[in-house]
Amino acid sequence: MNAQAASEAVEDRVEELLSEMTLEEKVGQMTQIDFSVVGVPVAPGEEPPIDRARLEDAVINRHVGSILNTPFTPFNKAIPIETWRKITAAIQETSSRTRLKIPVIYGIDAIHGATYTQGSVLFPQAISMAATFNPELSFKEGEITAREVRASGLHWNFSPVMDIGRQPLWPRLWETYGEDVHLASVMGTAYIKGHQGDDFSAPDKVPTCLKHYVGYSFPINGKDRTPAWIGERMLREYFLPTFEAGVQAGSPTIMVNSAEVDGIPGHANYQYLTTILRGELGFKGIAVSDWEDIKRLYTRDRLAASPKEAVKIAVMAGVDMSMVPFDFTFYDLLVELAQAGEVPMSRIDEAVSRILTVKFQTGLFDPERPVLPVEGHFATPEALETNRQAARESIILAKNDNHILPLKKDARILVTGPTANLLSVMNGGWTITWQGDNESLYPQDKLTVFEALQKKSAGKVTYVGGQAFNDPIDIGKVVAEAKNHDYVLLALGEKPYTETLGNIDSLMLDQAQIDLANAVIASGKPVILLTLGGRPRIITAIADKVPGVILGFLPGMEGGEAIADILYGDYNPNGKLPISYPRNTNDIVLYDHKPIETFESNTYKPLYPFGHGLSYTTFETRGLSVDKARIRGDENIAVHVTVKNTGMLKGKETVLLYLNDVAASVTRPVKQLKAFRKVELEPGQEQSLSFTLTPRDLSFIGVDMKRIVEPGEFKVMVGNETAGFFVTE
Ligand code: GLC
Repeated sequence: MNAQAASEAVEDRVEELLSEMTLEEKVGQMTQIDFSVVGVPVAPGEEPPIDRARLEDAVINRHVGSILNTPFTPFNKAIPIETWRKITAAIQETSSRTRLKIPVIYGIDAIHGATYTQGSVLFPQAISMAATFNPELSFKEGEITAREVRASGLHWNFSPVMDIGRQPLWPRLWETYGEDVHLASVMGTAYIKGHQGDDFSAPDKVPTCLKHYVGYSFPINGKDRTPAWIGERMLREYFLPTFEAGVQAGSPTIMVNSAEVDGIPGHANYQYLTTILRGELGFKGIAVSDWEDIKRLYTRDRLAASPKEAVKIAVMAGVDMSMVPFDFTFYDLLVELAQAGEVPMSRIDEAVSRILTVKFQTGLFDPERPVLPVEGHFATPEALETNRQAARESIILAKNDNHILPLKKDARILVTGPTANLLSVMNGGWTITWQGDNESLYPQDKLTVFEALQKKSAGKVTYVGGQAFNDPIDIGKVVAEAKNHDYVLLALGEKPYTETLGNIDSLMLDQAQIDLANAVIASGKPVILLTLGGRPRIITAIADKVPGVILGFLPGMEGGEAIADILYGDYNPNGKLPISYPRNTNDIVLYDHKPIETFESNTYKPLYPFGHGLSYTTFETRGLSVDKARIRGDENIAVHVTVKNTGMLKGKETVLLYLNDVAASVTRPVKQLKAFRKVELEPGQEQSLSFTLTPRDLSFIGVDMKRIVEPGEFKVMVGNETAGFFVTE
């Protein structure tokens, strides 16, 4: 059956099912509850932690169509895959006893792998996947994550985050693919295609969820769930395009922005949720609320005068499913609103059609379909190797004066600092628990940075530090030990966090880390600074005084081994910054800034610029050219360049192609990334690369808020070369 026929078949089945449904059954489909509503504390390993009576009440009496989350009660952590399979089997068995046998769709946050399934493959977080500049790895991460979600019996992944990371203070920066629209679009859509394949009803594919639509990632004060003020032009230039790319990549659900933009909460924004999302982007899938955010239109935003009005506002704005999450108030209130005619049945039918369509597309209505077997699909050796490669390619060598790196295996290394000997600092939030900060739950077979160095070392590797992130470190002991070693690896950064719990007042490091750094530097031993964590904390004063700097961000469960591979030269680093690394906490200028930001005394002076990343070899690009000097506004243009490995070691290099529209009716960024290609070259080897720029690449949001290509001069830049062309009328 071809795609068109399949789509029509689903439409027919949805229409038929809808026609049989009662109002209550329809509203139930729009209701998503947290697992805890039907969960019950049982000892791990016993029967699934489900209260059968409450499950029957939710699914049979209240017709609930979706459940989410790991059993926070009683576990509040990742659970064995067998327990997940029992849980989801019990839920589907219960839904099979409903009048119309509509299956429940189970949603989970599998943000960098199957977060809440014990032993799953946990990848570098999005910020670090972006640093690989390797879409193939993102595609594979999507494939592996989908397999492990399905093998857990789960059906829907609240990922990828398509928010743009342009506010480094924001505690979810690391869940984004960084500050650039093109990079985030390419990495996010690669993930979606791997995760969904061509048909996400396949037993090893899972529907994704674009989040958090839209403008959530740009709070003015940097704190999560606080106001963003984003004008329409900025919205259309920077915040909508990644969601547009995700919709075009076929993601069938979006999750709504939990905060507010220009004074309008995401869940009340008809213009964003209906006029733009449906009318312009052509999105046909489910818009699901974020956690408790319909209620919050009343309890927090004071936009609604009552809980009932909050439900009406959100549903009429375009929210199809409510992540309530702890009760049936949404269900009760929406039934009342529909019976009173305050919410038309047409709007409810529209929402339920979208929900049923995704359930059909996910294969949930096929009762015979077996859950993907664990054997051969979960934590496989291939998946592990892919994760190890992703971790290696995510690490950024930011400074390597006098080729201090790589170190010899017999070097005597003193390892210290709060992120040197923990796994949680390499994984961040959404790891085994929501905040990812319970180190005792992390797998014993994974290695911290210190442990990985110790394992690979042929010399002496000593750790001086605490057991937990905030443990005090005996600086006197560090300085004394430094005398007996050749190098000091100083591992600084952040402990794990996500959402509002990760809010901070400054990007400065805490004083204890600064004091440790100063003491280590004063010891006179050569220091390698390693940072780990979700945000670019200010390290300028330290980085300026040490010969080696490695930016690790959140490389995932294989991060320790990857960093050790790079420190000892067993792997040649090739990660590049997906964000501008600020020099000072209030000097936040991004790479794609406007000319006025670098005019006269204004400058773009990050500690390390977007796209920065060194190698143990050297590369050069030359021969940048375009195939035409003049093109029409509706034509493509080809760009050619040659890249060469001019050093002594094999290595990977990402060639970045930037564009500048020299003069336009709206000020244009001094440069914007429009294409990139990662190549592996032997010493002396060179490769000719060709890129095609399309009218979309040359376009911008014009004075009238419409996307246009304007005649005039354009420049392309690669490395230190520039080539120009003109767009005629
Ligand atoms: C959280 C997050 C969202 C997540 C959802 C379900 O509040 O904002 O990213 O998918 O709730 O856990």
